[in-house]
Amino acid sequence: MVTIISNGRSSITVFIILCCILLHLADIQAATPPSFSFDNFSQAEDKDSFEFLGGGATIDNASLQITQDTTENVPNLLNRFGRIMYKHPFNMWLSDEIQASFNSNFVINIFRKPAWNAGEGLAFLIAPDLSIPDASYGQWLGLTNAINDGKQTNKIVAIEFDTEKQDYDPNDNHIGLNINSVNSTATVSLDDYNIELSPEVPTNYRVWVHYNGTSKVMEVYMVQDGQPKPEKPLLSKTISLKEYVNQKSYFGFAASTGNPQIELNCVLKWSLEIDDLQKKSDLLWLKIGAGVGVPLVTLLILCGVLYLNKRKRRGKGGDEESKVLGTQLRWLPGMPREFKYKDLKKATNNFHESMRLGQGGFGVVYKGILQDKDHKSGTEIAVKKFSRDSVQSKDDFLAELTIIHRLRHKHLVRLVGWCYEKGKLLLLYDFMPNGSLDKHLYEASNENTLNWRRRYRILAGVASALHYLHNEYDQKVVHRDLKASNILLDSDYNARLGDFGLARALDNERNSYAELGLAGVPGTMGYVAPECFHTGRATPESDVYGFGAVVLEVVCSRSPGISINHHQRLYSLVDWVWMLHREGSIEEAVDERLGTDYVVDEAKRLLLLGLACSHPVASERPQTQDICQIISGIMLAPNVPPFKPAFTWPSMVTACSSTDSTLTNTTFSS
Ligand SMILES: *[C@@H]1O[C@H](CO)[C@@H](O)[C@H](O)[C@H]1NC(C)=O
Ligand SMILES: *[C@@H]1O[C@H](CO)[C@@H](O)[C@H](O)[C@H]1NC(C)=O
Ligand SMILES: *[C@@H]1O[C@H](CO)[C@@H](O)[C@H](O)[C@H]1NC(C)=O
Ligand SMILES: *[C@@H]1O[C@H](CO)[C@@H](O)[C@H](O)[C@H]1NC(C)=O
Repeated sequence: MVTIISNGRSSITVFIILCCILLHLADIQAATPPSFSFDNFSQAEDKDSFEFLGGGATIDNASLQITQDTTENVPNLLNRFGRIMYKHPFNMWLSDEIQASFNSNFVINIFRKPAWNAGEGLAFLIAPDLSIPDASYGQWLGLTNAINDGKQTNKIVAIEFDTEKQDYDPNDNHIGLNINSVNSTATVSLDDYNIELSPEVPTNYRVWVHYNGTSKVMEVYMVQDGQPKPEKPLLSKTISLKEYVNQKSYFGFAASTGNPQIELNCVLKWSLEIDDLQKKSDLLWLKIGAGVGVPLVTLLILCGVLYLNKRKRRGKGGDEESKVLGTQLRWLPGMPREFKYKDLKKATNNFHESMRLGQGGFGVVYKGILQDKDHKSGTEIAVKKFSRDSVQSKDDFLAELTIIHRLRHKHLVRLVGWCYEKGKLLLLYDFMPNGSLDKHLYEASNENTLNWRRRYRILAGVASALHYLHNEYDQKVVHRDLKASNILLDSDYNARLGDFGLARALDNERNSYAELGLAGVPGTMGYVAPECFHTGRATPESDVYGFGAVVLEVVCSRSPGISINHHQRLYSLVDWVWMLHREGSIEEAVDERLGTDYVVDEAKRLLLLGLACSHPVASERPQTQDICQIISGIMLAPNVPPFKPAFTWPSMVTACSSTDSTLTNTTFSS
């Protein structure tokens, strides 16, 4: 280590990286204002804490009045809109992982006279600035207007308390989670909870809005003021706020009235506690340490290994070499436990054929049982033994190790240990009792076939793992070999993506298939994106293509590599599903063994998603973020054209097939 660091060039690199870290830290907001709590509101004392927007917003009668506060002058209440925002912004997130949790608690009163027809509604709001859209009265709730409703640039997330039914609303007494639009992502009718938002007898309601920045779950609780907080939330939704709101965002309320629907929109009490991300920037240090430091240290160590190996090769044999490599591996920060070769030999019954689980990239996987010291119980593991005759297997091993030992996600197979002795390379993983996905799709008997819930959950899990690799991890990682046999199932049939033998961090051009010294593309037919045959390179988009193949495979229980005979013609799986889609009978593609035990809407959504991911043009495929949202139902299923667009090379994004559109009288190539 010391010799490496004292090398001139490395020291400069270290210096530059340290500078970058310092600059990055300086970027983070210096101070976050404290959380706040108002038991009542006073015009004299509290007005400076808030921004009043929309004309009628005031503090009156000890409450925030989001719209005009009058009970006599009815014309003055028609078609009003307003916002009252807390003036200081808060840091909502530092990164995908570090998002601020918050708890907000408020008391609202949506007042109306018995003769009034209540409308339109009030909303708790997170917004990017201290402004309000013009003409956001009526259905727009002071949140959006006819022009900007639904736009991602709105950067707002709100909980609406809606007293007037629109086409997209369930009724005139509901709450909803609104993302950039008054058309809610999720709604809950309050009729089911014996709550009337704006009853004839004025009633105060207490609301709790919780957001957990770790689990990304948003929850809303609501009761008549004075009653205890209920155990269960009325509304609970997983939503990564970072995807929608500005890093610096403001909290407040918005409301509107219509014509003739009118109401007073009052907030009587309000408190907010939000994580001070400043404290968490300590964590960020660690993260940056891991993000920059680990790759750097890894790189330095690898350089060191190469250098030492070169020197050693001149003199001594392989034994020395592996000792050196082993020593260096021990240095990798965060490395899991090191195992002795003889223990692994014993655990796998001398790598006996009966313990063989399968063949992964570059090696065979065995089941192993590690005996505890007292020999009373054993821990099951999976041991991947890299094939010795692969000339490059040491590099493969290092490549796999440097990536996988730092990845942490509940849908990735966990690395639990390693061994490098006498030139033999082994990696230990959690044992997955339910084996790989392909076995369940093809080998299980009809009764044992995966049920729909499990299939759906498996795909959701794989999508979130892929999203992690592509976006949430500090370096972009492509998996490169996504297929059913690489998806393992734990005891609850949750998906765990495995086999990072081919994964490489997407940096300095190291993502080339050719670089692995393999003849051609290593993936399996049907999973490999068409452009890979031209570029020989894996990209996040080609991973998405592989994911699309897996989606179709899981829904249809058909292998992407096997042709389907339909009306005397052979179709690939994608082309077959695409044809059914065109014919308006896409649900016929669903695995017959499921019978009617599946959710038709979900199946259609997945099949359309599978087709969208199989788009021949890489740039047209959805990204993992949208994929996750489509699967969780937050986003609509993608629009898929009736005819599969043509693959073009070099890619021209807008190119569309003319041959396919005459499909009925030409032979379909598959
Ligand atoms: C308003 O609340 C504050 C504490 O937040 C309290 O000291 C004050 O007495 C209250 N005023 C009224 C009028 O209730
Ligand atoms: C003012 O607030 C009190 C207490 O919340 C309430 O009883 C009263 O109706 C309110 N008056 C008006 C005009 O809103
Ligand atoms: C509201 O959103 C749903 C899907 O979330 C969509 O189907 C519907 O068309 C939208 N309605 C309006 C009026 O925008
Ligand atoms: C937030 O979610 C994480 C992960 O699910 C959990 O461990 C933690 O306890 C939650 N925090 C709160 C305050 O509920």
